[in-house]
Amino acid sequence: MSDRDQRRAAPLGVFDSGLGGLTVVRALRAALPYEDIVYLGDTARVPYGTKGPDTVVRYALGCARHLVGRGVKAIVIACNTVSAVAPERLRIELDLPVLGVIEPGARAAVRATRSHRIGVLATLGTVASGAYPRAVSALSTRAETTAQAAPLLVPLAEEGWTTGEVPRLAVERYLAPLARAGVDVVVLGCTHYPLLRGVIEEGTREAIGPHVAVVDSAEATAEDTAAFLSARGLTRPEDRLGTVRLLVTDLPRSFGAQAERFLGEAAVDVEAIDL
Ligand code: DGL
Repeated sequence: MSDRDQRRAAPLGVFDSGLGGLTVVRALRAALPYEDIVYLGDTARVPYGTKGPDTVVRYALGCARHLVGRGVKAIVIACNTVSAVAPERLRIELDLPVLGVIEPGARAAVRATRSHRIGVLATLGTVASGAYPRAVSALSTRAETTAQAAPLLVPLAEEGWTTGEVPRLAVERYLAPLARAGVDVVVLGCTHYPLLRGVIEEGTREAIGPHVAVVDSAEATAEDTAAFLSARGLTRPEDRLGTVRLLVTDLPRSFGAQAERFLGEAAVDVEAIDL
């Protein structure tokens, strides 16, 4: 096999702080069904969204280096919090392509807005980094971004509390500043929020209006990754369907039990690793 064929055949590396990044894997599987994926969930150190940027960069380097050791051809950072603070550092330290979720999410939001007012729900770390407003400003001089931290939505999604009174009230609180800003797009700026999409959509209809679009950065990231691999001639041959290998830094059993809800398919086996 030539070097080029070997690179094409290599898996894609994807990582997140834990389970949530599997929503990105799900979108990648739909857009790139022939790619093999190695996914690393840093369950020993989740959540990242409440930690400071230096800590998140350090954790992210550990995850990415492990994936490089597994021979991946590119890395997709599924975590918004990592994508907000670490991509440049990873690109400098690692000699391979690194894609994040913020730019694709911002692009999808700019495409969807009519009023040029964009709302983002994300973790404390992502909001504090200012990454979404920066990414939106780089794409549109007219668009204004209002970012709201929605930290309670992560444990609710982890617990499977995605419908009913509790998530409804939390979402209502978090949407209030976005409603005041008059946004017509709400970006799900965290890996876990697609699981609460139903409640968030209902909340935006009630708090802001029926015209508001809810944008998922997972789908936009998968589209970008597909375009990137194809432009670089790195897409795997379509000789068989791709596989997913799951690695975690803690609690492989409970990860396996919960993974299906995020991934949309059964998680066959989960390997515990040490970073
Ligand atoms: N993966 C994180 C994100 O997308 C959410 C979970 C966490 O805080 O670690 O920002």
